[in-house]
Amino acid sequence: YNIVFITAEAAPYSKTGGLGDVCGSLPIALAGRGHRVMVLSPRYLNGTLNSHYASAKDLEKHINVSCFGGDQEVAFFHEYRAGVDWVFVDHPCYHRPGSLYGDEHGTFGDNQFRFALLCHAACEAPLVLPLGGYTYGENCLFLVNDWHASLVPVLLGAKYRPHGVYKDARSILIIHNLAHQGVEPAITYENLGLPAQWYGALEWIFPTWARKHALDTGATVNILKGAIVTADRILTVSQGYAWEITTAEGGQGLDELLSSRESVLNGITNGIDVDIWNPAIDKHIPFNYSVDDLSGKNLCKAALQKALGLAVRPDCPLIGFIGRLDYQKGTDVILSTMPELLQDDVQFIMLGSGDPDTEQWMRWAESSYKEKFRGWVGFNEPFSHHITAGCDILLMPSRFEPCGLNQLYAMRYGSVPVVHCTGGLRDTVEIFDPFADEDGRGTGWAFSPLSGESMLAALRTAIKTYREHKSSWEGLMKRGMLKDFSWDSAAAKYELIMEWALMDPPYVR
Ligand code: ADP
Ligand code: GLC
Repeated sequence: YNIVFITAEAAPYSKTGGLGDVCGSLPIALAGRGHRVMVLSPRYLNGTLNSHYASAKDLEKHINVSCFGGDQEVAFFHEYRAGVDWVFVDHPCYHRPGSLYGDEHGTFGDNQFRFALLCHAACEAPLVLPLGGYTYGENCLFLVNDWHASLVPVLLGAKYRPHGVYKDARSILIIHNLAHQGVEPAITYENLGLPAQWYGALEWIFPTWARKHALDTGATVNILKGAIVTADRILTVSQGYAWEITTAEGGQGLDELLSSRESVLNGITNGIDVDIWNPAIDKHIPFNYSVDDLSGKNLCKAALQKALGLAVRPDCPLIGFIGRLDYQKGTDVILSTMPELLQDDVQFIMLGSGDPDTEQWMRWAESSYKEKFRGWVGFNEPFSHHITAGCDILLMPSRFEPCGLNQLYAMRYGSVPVVHCTGGLRDTVEIFDPFADEDGRGTGWAFSPLSGESMLAALRTAIKTYREHKSSWEGLMKRGMLKDFSWDSAAAKYELIMEWALMDPPYVR
């Protein structure tokens, strides 16, 4: 197939979370299976990322995009790497200090514009960019990631097909996180570069639930919703999450709409890049190791304790947390239970950035629990690898988790995950059963409900097992390390979904 990924993040060029990891590795896996794959993302020049785009060459193909009240000139940069065409959309709105989506003053006010522009450019790219000598052409499969890319299926139906273009193209919406929908006041609709008659939710296409399930609800424009009602198929990043989003509890207001598309909604659990996340060759960790010889892991732990200024004690369980400091990640539960947890003989290292109050709390806790707690505020990839290798237990009390990658990385590095039983965490962490089989079964603990008590109970069971049942612990580590989390099987499932998408006529003609 000719596959076109559209995404706000693609590692190693740009990343704030798992979206970057997935869009940096899944395309390579698909290219490895013989498909022609292009990834379109912005060329973020914010100072720190500039060097990441150093090998990408200007294709010297400029286009004009009409949206937000004017013609915007957009350029494309390109790098062919690992079998994939990495295309970076260039415009001054992506050149500013801060992170991908905001700076110290908060989220950028013009993100609607920045990502509408990405979508318009992405629809033009297969038609106009002669990559490796020839264009991708009209018959492509658009893999549309999260709200940032969600205008693409709407544009196919509203802007291109009425002119006979992209008649045989298909689009698949991949929902990595339903919490972010790209909602703006209705007044911004006229800026999106869409025909006026598409305002008010595609009434003529979907008469039955038109008013209720529009691109807007009258008061707002909801970009993700636009893709949910126009994409040919919908995918989420685990099967558990695919079900959760059709329930009132997990649907973030879109459950009824998603249920109405259940026949084309599937879940595929993310894979991971097993070369970047491989304890046997990882350059970010001080000692390498494998399932056959775990001595390097003990050395990584000692080095981590030393680097953090904690007592270098092999027997003391070291618990880690890595992630965005966000309501989703359940960090409030960690904060509220820390005074009790830290009465035990444990060490805790927390790496993350986001919510300013949580960051403030981490600094405070570090000075209050000098012997036991370290809080590292910021985004630090090498350090995240070292923590993954050096800790014994990785804690993920996520309130919801579409897939979650850190628990997969942890298992691959022989660190045992303790997670809230939700979404992709439930799908990937097999609960430890000491009495099953000869040496026990399972790779970690999944607790429920999400409360301080149940999290503490799970952690204490894990800690007791760590201290008192060495062989059980080794079994847990090794079973996790031996799991196959590579993209191979997930990529095969993506192929099947693409095949299904091509079997049906386009959903919006
Ligand atoms: P999400 O995408 O919701 O943030 P995932 O578990 O899917 O959660 O992926 C998170 C990714 O971001 C992982 O690769 C993780 O290591 C990385 N990450 C998150 N916070 C940090 C941080 N502060 N420093 C380094 N890496 C981080
Ligand atoms: C999102 C989700 C996370 C998932 C990642 C990659 O950011 O929060 O659970 O692993 O996307 O799909």
